[in-house]
Amino acid sequence: MTEAAITSIYNRLFKWEGKSAKAPYPIHKKLNTVAFGYDDIYKWILDNYQFNADSKVLDAGCGVGYGSLLIAETKHCQVKGISLSDAEILQATQFSKEKNLEHLVTFNVTSYDKLEPKSFDFIIATESVKHSLNLEKTLKSLRNALKPNGTLIIVDDFLTNETYSNSIKSYQKDWQLAELLSASDVLPPFRLKKDLTDFVQTKSNLKVNFSIILLNVLKQINSVATIMRGGLYLEKLFNEGVMKYYIIDFKKPNQ
Ligand SMILES: C[S@@+](CC[C@H](N)C(=O)[O-])C[C@H]1O[C@@H](n2cnc3c(N)ncnc32)[C@H](O)[C@@H]1O
Repeated sequence: MTEAAITSIYNRLFKWEGKSAKAPYPIHKKLNTVAFGYDDIYKWILDNYQFNADSKVLDAGCGVGYGSLLIAETKHCQVKGISLSDAEILQATQFSKEKNLEHLVTFNVTSYDKLEPKSFDFIIATESVKHSLNLEKTLKSLRNALKPNGTLIIVDDFLTNETYSNSIKSYQKDWQLAELLSASDVLPPFRLKKDLTDFVQTKSNLKVNFSIILLNVLKQINSVATIMRGGLYLEKLFNEGVMKYYIIDFKKPNQ
């Protein structure tokens, strides 16, 4: 697994789903809005943490800037969005111009493994830490980049079963994941802020299996099919009850 592989995944995905997008769009799970009470996870985060106009925020793995721009627009604070995908960053920058938010938001192609220490009051990583090439290194970098009293918020998929099944292997292979986040690792100083698993929407395994067969054929002509197939294996893992969707956080002590 390499950074180049992650760049390639998100550049290909952008080419497929984003190149004619007229507005920033989220690149994460769409939850059951009625049950959850929010139409997007970033909106829940905005409501449940104390952002203000002085907050310096990092959107670590920002996609096309959906969350970064939403936070800047809502709280009028400085936001930095980073991604490994140059295509995403180009588009995010374009969206920030269109929204007249360039004075608040900057977007860069940078890895969350290479951050300046003590720089942010909030770091949000929505479905991006799963791509870490070395979880220990990434979590250290993210925690170091917090200012004293700063908060790191991670939203991601966490595996509960340590026994490797075919679905786990296929999911990991299709998305080229070096390591899988494990629910058993959510230990202090991290805490489980919210379990979102019940709000995750999946297709039935019958539909999932049929779609996988279809994508096995399509992948010969379109490389995005492999990424889509990884998403279906993830749905299977939720259906099998071995995957959890958590928000975890870490508050840096005031040194
Ligand atoms: C599933 S998308 C989530 C995008 C955004 N957080 C959202 O929810 O709309 C994952 C993002 O993480 C980024 N990413 C993966 N590894 C990264 C790394 N080492 N440093 C920075 N960004 C990374 C990808 O480039 C992509 O933008």
